[in-house]
Amino acid sequence: MKNAAFRAHTNIALIKYWGKEDETLFIPMNSSLSLTLNELYTDTFVSRLDEGAKDSFILNNHEQSEEETKKISKFLDLFRKEAGISSAFRVESINHVPTAAGLASSASAFAALAGAMNQVTGLQMDPQKLSTYARRGSGSSTRSLFGGFVEWQKGTSSEDSMAIPIDPADWDIGMVIVAVNKTAKKISSRLGMKQTVETSPFYPAWVSSAKDDLIAIKEAIHEHDFKRLGEITEHSAMKMHGSMLGAKRPIIYFEPDSMKAIQTVKKLREEGLLCYVTMDAGPNVKVLCRLSEAEKIKQKLLEDFTEEQVLISGPGPGIRPLTDNEAQV
Ligand code: ADP
Ligand code: DP6
Ligand code: CO
Repeated sequence: MKNAAFRAHTNIALIKYWGKEDETLFIPMNSSLSLTLNELYTDTFVSRLDEGAKDSFILNNHEQSEEETKKISKFLDLFRKEAGISSAFRVESINHVPTAAGLASSASAFAALAGAMNQVTGLQMDPQKLSTYARRGSGSSTRSLFGGFVEWQKGTSSEDSMAIPIDPADWDIGMVIVAVNKTAKKISSRLGMKQTVETSPFYPAWVSSAKDDLIAIKEAIHEHDFKRLGEITEHSAMKMHGSMLGAKRPIIYFEPDSMKAIQTVKKLREEGLLCYVTMDAGPNVKVLCRLSEAEKIKQKLLEDFTEEQVLISGPGPGIRPLTDNEAQV
């Protein structure tokens, strides 16, 4: 018997979150803005256990280690505290996205778990408040509460560092995802950003320019100015990776195939197609484009990559409970 089942979609940041002001509360150094993706998501099932039981965590049908389960328990504690309960839970999750590969599995993961815990505890927080809880599992998951373009406002405290839906992205917006390498990264986002904050002389420049980019990208979205949206997006990603190169030791998520995909996008742009690259903490490349032109871009990428590596996605929705039929696993 499952007590709650939720689906959350991943999101890819156009203005990146990279660095924490408060590592315990997951308060970021800068506000960020993302696009929720329709094709990549996590389904999470939570059941309340009998008194005396311990939390358990099963990911993609594999029982997880004590260390992984501890991370989940810490997150569940936030809900237990708010609801005034002490019971343990069984968490089962299926990622329809490669895990820990820079395709934002932690974003859909903790948004789905937050949704399920909100239901199973009867807390019934509104999505905005719930986004402040999701944040404590993984910062990027804050934004996955909502669909379309979403801002994560840094805020001034744990209570107002939350997600705000900005725009449904229903004006011919799409992404082509190039899965250069789906295996788990060696340096987690958490560790990578910590090392950058602590050792990169470029980091302060990243923070101040991210503030300006956020203002500009919101204007571009408001005006449906796709070219400007794309240019700001690509610039933000490259600046984030630049800040990582300045870390001691340097953090490099690029692989030769990442560069190949970037070159293809550059060439397509020279031919007049509006398409722009973004990359996260992993070698995979995402191409922001017009959804109506995504197939054309995919075909070009297929000259170097396989069908299994290239995926088109339109904008996705916010979190939602799974229907009884969908929850039959
Ligand atoms: P990504 O680029 O995939 O977001 P991160 O390094 O940010 O990579 O996060 C990966 C971590 O997120 C995993 O090691 C695991 O701890 C956690 N995670 C991923 N998927 C799930 C899930 N479905 N449920 C709970 N935790 C998850
Ligand atoms: C490069 O949210 O995965 O994808 O908060 O430590 O769990 P934690 O990190 P995470 O970092 C995401 C970094 C990024 C940029 C982004 O999604 O904004
Ligand atoms: Co992540």
